[in-house]
Amino acid sequence: MNPTDNNITGSRRLSIAPMLDWTDRHYRHMARQISRHTWLYSEMINAGAIIYGDQDRFLMFNEGEQPVALQLGGSEPADLAKAAKAGEQYGYNEINLNCGCPSPRVQKGAFGACLMNEVGLVADCLNSMQDAVRIPVTVKHRIGVDRQTEYQTVADFVGTLAHKTACTTFIVHARNAWLDGLSPKENREVPPLKYEYVYRLKQEFPNLEIIINGGVTTNEEIAGHLQHVDGVMVGREAYHNPMIMREWDQRFYHSSEPPIEYAELVDRIFRYSREQIQAGRGTILRHTVRHYLGLMHGLNKARVWRRMLSDAALLKDNDGSLILQAWEEVKNANTF
Ligand SMILES: Cc1cc2nc3c(=O)[nH]c(=O)nc-3n(C[C@H](O)[C@H](O)[C@H](O)COP(=O)(O)O)c2cc1C
Repeated sequence: MNPTDNNITGSRRLSIAPMLDWTDRHYRHMARQISRHTWLYSEMINAGAIIYGDQDRFLMFNEGEQPVALQLGGSEPADLAKAAKAGEQYGYNEINLNCGCPSPRVQKGAFGACLMNEVGLVADCLNSMQDAVRIPVTVKHRIGVDRQTEYQTVADFVGTLAHKTACTTFIVHARNAWLDGLSPKENREVPPLKYEYVYRLKQEFPNLEIIINGGVTTNEEIAGHLQHVDGVMVGREAYHNPMIMREWDQRFYHSSEPPIEYAELVDRIFRYSREQIQAGRGTILRHTVRHYLGLMHGLNKARVWRRMLSDAALLKDNDGSLILQAWEEVKNANTF
């Protein structure tokens, strides 16, 4: 199958990066209200946690959230296959294997970025997962680990997997992972970005779907990257400034729907928070509103919004109308 021939490619034109502790189902619900088309990713979930743990807790997501991908961490082909199967049964649209996480905890389990040194094992994992599910299995990786700074490292990784597996979608965080001496946070900032490596992958493997990731903060940058690759994945900017997604459906998916109004969005997240709290599955107001802090980025009184929604004394009543009160402050200080 040529991925440029199917409409899945169109859907992955823009995506929100998997981010541990950040892209949970509450964040993804908000993101989905802002963009109907952007492809969403779960946080990385260990295959073992899905097999042996509380599947509902790890895999449940909200109606209307799709398209959504489940990102798995692991390096045991049989476990990954079981976890992928569970993900498919819960309704995820894609299973993604993490080959980019540099955290020491992940290295101990011999998965994440250190898998880039074991392409044969990655191929086994992807094949085993793909044999277990009908939805696409994809991979997210770096351009190299430690001192592998040559383009050929990532080209060999992608080329080998394209040859040995059915995987046709590669999400490339355009910097190295340094497994020794840098924290995960530093590993998202210190190793230099090399977008040209990712562009070159697309030139050399035109039949693969190549998605670029790393350091993208504006819609102009997105438009620039789309001249060279099939899709752009945005992480931190979409978390700290979610309204960056507001233009995406019209600008990048040619949707004729108008962007969502702030007032409408606030109403939806208020109702959502109230429903989640009432559902009695242990959700408290803080669990949802912590993802809303950046929503008013760039508006007057954005700081008041943030302060109110992170004030422990105000949050302790667990009353979603706090969102409406904070919105009143912002609404009265801006013209929309
Ligand atoms: C808080 C946080 C958690 C992350 N967790 C994951 C993860 O679970 N899986 C993964 O593949 N990448 C993870 N990443 C990396 C992002 O997916 C992304 O590759 C990276 O932030 C670069 O993109 P950006 O510059 O647009 O943020 C995480 C990043 C952040 C900031």
